[in-house]
Amino acid sequence: MPFSGRVNKIGISPTMKIAAQAMEMKALGEKIIDLSVGEPDFPTPDNIKNAAKSALDLNHTRYTLNQGTIELRNAIVKKLKNKNGVDYLPEETIVSAGAKQSIFNAVQSLVNDGDEVIYASPYYVSYPEMVTLANGRSVVIKTGEAQNFLLTPSQLEEAITPSSKLLILNYPCNPTGSCYTKNELSSIAEIVLKNNLYVISDEIYENLLYDDKEFVCFASLDGEIKKRTVVVNGFSKSYAMTGWRIGYGAGPANIISAMNKIQSHSTSNASSISQAAALEALNGPQSFIQEMRLEYAKRRDFIYEQLKSIEGVTSHKPAGAFYLLPNISNYFKRSHQLFRIENSFDLAMYLLHEAKVATVPGSSFGAEGYIRISYSTSMENLKEAAARIKYALGNLK
Ligand SMILES: Cc1ncc(COP(=O)(O)O)c(C=O)c1O
Repeated sequence: MPFSGRVNKIGISPTMKIAAQAMEMKALGEKIIDLSVGEPDFPTPDNIKNAAKSALDLNHTRYTLNQGTIELRNAIVKKLKNKNGVDYLPEETIVSAGAKQSIFNAVQSLVNDGDEVIYASPYYVSYPEMVTLANGRSVVIKTGEAQNFLLTPSQLEEAITPSSKLLILNYPCNPTGSCYTKNELSSIAEIVLKNNLYVISDEIYENLLYDDKEFVCFASLDGEIKKRTVVVNGFSKSYAMTGWRIGYGAGPANIISAMNKIQSHSTSNASSISQAAALEALNGPQSFIQEMRLEYAKRRDFIYEQLKSIEGVTSHKPAGAFYLLPNISNYFKRSHQLFRIENSFDLAMYLLHEAKVATVPGSSFGAEGYIRISYSTSMENLKEAAARIKYALGNLK
């Protein structure tokens, strides 16, 4: 076997298998409705695209500072101060090729062999593999609908051992949409401080929070927690910029400097053009976010009501992001023609073939018994998909 032990330790998620199958079916002319997407279905706003075009015309096509341009980092500092109420210096921020790279670099910077990294399930698919690649040990705390998929302080306390090093938080969460209140975050912060943990707070869905709920940046809770936290955020979801690959981290200067070192020997700076676009995203008009948020809120309400009306399906109402995670385990041990449903993967495959709707099995997020439905698609698609799902589930006996 030519590959390193490292690469052999990580897997390709089952998500990929469903996505590949969906793509094959689409190529064969089938009308698949894709509810497996993890990105906004809106185009990047024009002012941001125009900033990128100007940057090209001005020949801003060279390497930038590895850590990101000073203009962009100043804008990030301003955003963190004005929107989140937390003070950083530009040297306490780093721009990377997506939030994902900042999380990866932070994990690489903080985790030693055997260190325990705690996070809740359902989790974002890349956390386990990032921890594995750093030779850390994942300690996954299972949460369920009854607790609104939120980690409780007592669960966190119970999970802590002398090897605990890092806690990864993600709110609003992919795949559940759940989000912590300030009080809930404060209780978590107390335990973090008592046990000298570090925190990566993945706040990429900050702007997709509905019903006038207040978003609280973890580092803003107090000065001590800020010293132990790397806040990660980005442009993919807030400004519909997934393809631009641009995100950032903010944290204590020594951790950011470690992340910078790792980045300098892997990708170096994020794309200069994407950085120029991101600068406009932060400095330009913000009305796009509100428009997108209102549209997502409408879609969430619609699909939530639809799912609730299906016999045997239960769903929580997500506070944010653009996902729902209905519990479909009542359909296990049922069959239709050649299909036999034993788990969430089987059910997602069944929906793909019978309803022509692509979803993601909960097992990809450490949440067997659920499927993830993304409502980042048109209302028309959601209406059609809901009807097809209802019909296909009704055929399972
Ligand atoms: C929870 C979470 N964190 C991080 C990312 C990565 O975002 P980016 O496109 O900025 O790398 C995603 C993308 O799906 C996500 O859902």
